[in-house]
Amino acid sequence: MKLLVTGGCGFIGTNFIRLMLDAHPDWSIVNLDKLTYAGNRLNLLDLEENAPRYEFVHGDICNRELVMDLLNDKRLDAVVNFAAESHVDRSINDPSPFVTTNVGGAQNLMECARQRGIERFVHVSTDEVYGTLGPSGKFTETTPLSPNSPYSASKAGADLMARAYFETYHFPILITRCSNNYGPYQFPEKLIPLMFLSAKADKSLPVYGDGLNVRDWIYVDDHCRGVELTLTKGREGQAYNFGGNAEETNISVVKTMLSILGKPESLITFVTDRPGHDKRYAMDFSLAARELGFAPTLPFSEGLARTVAWYEANGPWLEQVQSGEYRTFMDTWYEERG
Ligand code: NAD
Ligand code: TYD
Repeated sequence: MKLLVTGGCGFIGTNFIRLMLDAHPDWSIVNLDKLTYAGNRLNLLDLEENAPRYEFVHGDICNRELVMDLLNDKRLDAVVNFAAESHVDRSINDPSPFVTTNVGGAQNLMECARQRGIERFVHVSTDEVYGTLGPSGKFTETTPLSPNSPYSASKAGADLMARAYFETYHFPILITRCSNNYGPYQFPEKLIPLMFLSAKADKSLPVYGDGLNVRDWIYVDDHCRGVELTLTKGREGQAYNFGGNAEETNISVVKTMLSILGKPESLITFVTDRPGHDKRYAMDFSLAARELGFAPTLPFSEGLARTVAWYEANGPWLEQVQSGEYRTFMDTWYEERG
């Protein structure tokens, strides 16, 4: 199979490309990435230099001509769309790029793929499209979409567009909705790598609100396997939930990290809450278990220790991704939260 992966220079895309090239000797992958602040071409430089089954293309999923030409010239069979603006806090500061890429770009990809007769298209959505949960219950695929942040609203827009492409055009699209990922190559604006950086530098760890918001954490490789199963075995038109069976409060995640790193809990600072902050996410992924044979493999404690070890071993990567643009956003956002 010849696969177009978009956003492959970001966190999940990088892990997905590495895993898939390893697992499928008969697959080749073209990675289309705009290289925003969150995209790092160097993540996959070893593949660019040594792997004939991997090719990088610098470009925007919003670009109709580029995507049409790519699908034609490279004779691609399937598309997996990871490309997105992905950080909730940035979407609060400025929703516009979220609408442009996450809705407009996703629709452009679907349209090009439809016109080119692509046989399989996996759109990577998120659990955040469902909104928030109370203390009990879990999201299922039939939970109404009820997004609360500009990020999740833009993801819900694309998710619904994907549904419409199936219903209207019988376009062979599949949707994945996964919970919070963690693991190697995650950009240090997200909770786990950000807390790692702060703890290592003996700086304060900014926990929003009371720290009791709950996320269901999944190790990135497990999510990637979910996407792979969806691509190879999923039913067209279906959305599949994926989760890690690992509900944790933010404060508990932060304390566990401090303990792994041997740093004191006095570094924790409670800061002004994120507006519209979803209280709890939890995933019922029994459909994916039943239809695709999906199960998360890594317990949270093991995955977190593995992730911390990766960041410990990859100091130069962390240094390199903290560009001037990164520092500007981080300084302003956290200054405003006190
Ligand atoms: P990320 O921010 O680390 O990476 C996004 C990548 O997309 C970057 O390489 C960036 O350069 C690229 N990109 C952005 N705009 C583009 C455009 N217009 N054209 C081409 N490339 C563009 O994000 P991530 O955490 O790897 O998430 C990947 C996908 O998975 C996203 O769609 C996200 O919504 C979804 N998702 C993420 C999580 C999570 O916990 N991180 C959970 C569920 C779903
Ligand atoms: P994040 O990694 O941004 O993922 P998402 O918002 O998509 O779930 O945040 C995970 C949780 O951690 C979320 O409840 C917000 C919280 N959080 C903090 O408490 N402090 C921080 O500095 C960040 C970035 C997140």
